[in-house]
Amino acid sequence: MRDFDERTITEAVLARVRAAPNPRVRQVSEALVRHLHAFIREVQPTQAEWEWGIRFLTETGHLCTATRQEFVLLSDTLGVSRLVDAINHRFPEHATETTVLGPFYVTPPSFPNGADIKGSMSGRPMYVSGTISGADGAPLSGATVDVWHSDDSGFYDLQKLDEHPNYSGRGRFQSDAQGRFSFWTTRPAAYPIPHDGPVGKMLQAQGRHPYRPEHIHFLVSAAGHHKLVTHIFAAGDVYLDSDAVFAVKDSLIRTYVPHSGGTAPDGRDMQGQWFSLHHDFRIAGATTSDH
Ligand code: BEZ
Ligand code: FE
Repeated sequence: MRDFDERTITEAVLARVRAAPNPRVRQVSEALVRHLHAFIREVQPTQAEWEWGIRFLTETGHLCTATRQEFVLLSDTLGVSRLVDAINHRFPEHATETTVLGPFYVTPPSFPNGADIKGSMSGRPMYVSGTISGADGAPLSGATVDVWHSDDSGFYDLQKLDEHPNYSGRGRFQSDAQGRFSFWTTRPAAYPIPHDGPVGKMLQAQGRHPYRPEHIHFLVSAAGHHKLVTHIFAAGDVYLDSDAVFAVKDSLIRTYVPHSGGTAPDGRDMQGQWFSLHHDFRIAGATTSDH
């Protein structure tokens, strides 16, 4: 077969990829060709625009390193990460909702409950506590709770290794016999996702800002249960309705409660302003279908 034209090219490519021996590869390849060709037919790019698109993807690849994943940012800002997360976590209504992992997770150091994980971060003290239970509400002891968050100017330790050469604002805890965990840290801040590369240029061209509302990340795992990847967002943040990566869910918004002096829940005598946050997490059993 030869002499393909605008009318025949799509079917010709589809016929060829249908030869893939692996059925999943066949399905993905066919869908990819169908949707890509439909996109091109709709957009009708000029040759110069097509070359621009190739350059955009090339720059996106060139920017990727062990600590900067521009393709993940592209997926996040186009809502693809959120859609993949939604498709893969159709859990029962009473399980805590999931949201995107983001690019700033690394396996954190372990701490006992009640420890302070601020490291070299400065800012307003924050006491975070919660419980982990199964979807039936029974407390889970020995669950692993990984947390990470930005400093008070919106940067993760990994982004500012000169200021935060060691782990700061991240830690791993184990839930106790009643399913409880707790830690001290400093209050994070809303922040822009890295926007000095192609994804930043795309956001600007689309008339979008790069900001995420203030949040703390949680990754909870327990034997026999699905891993929970989520955030707890600060109520009242101005970016809750325009998160650059579409990750906000109403059920994940909590008040970061302000206090002035007094006694903290762990008995610490406090001076000045500080905050507390409490959230009870429910995680789905591994038998729950998650496709
Ligand atoms: C984050 O919350 O750490 C994040 C998520 C998606 C893109 C960039 C950052
Ligand atoms: Fe984050």
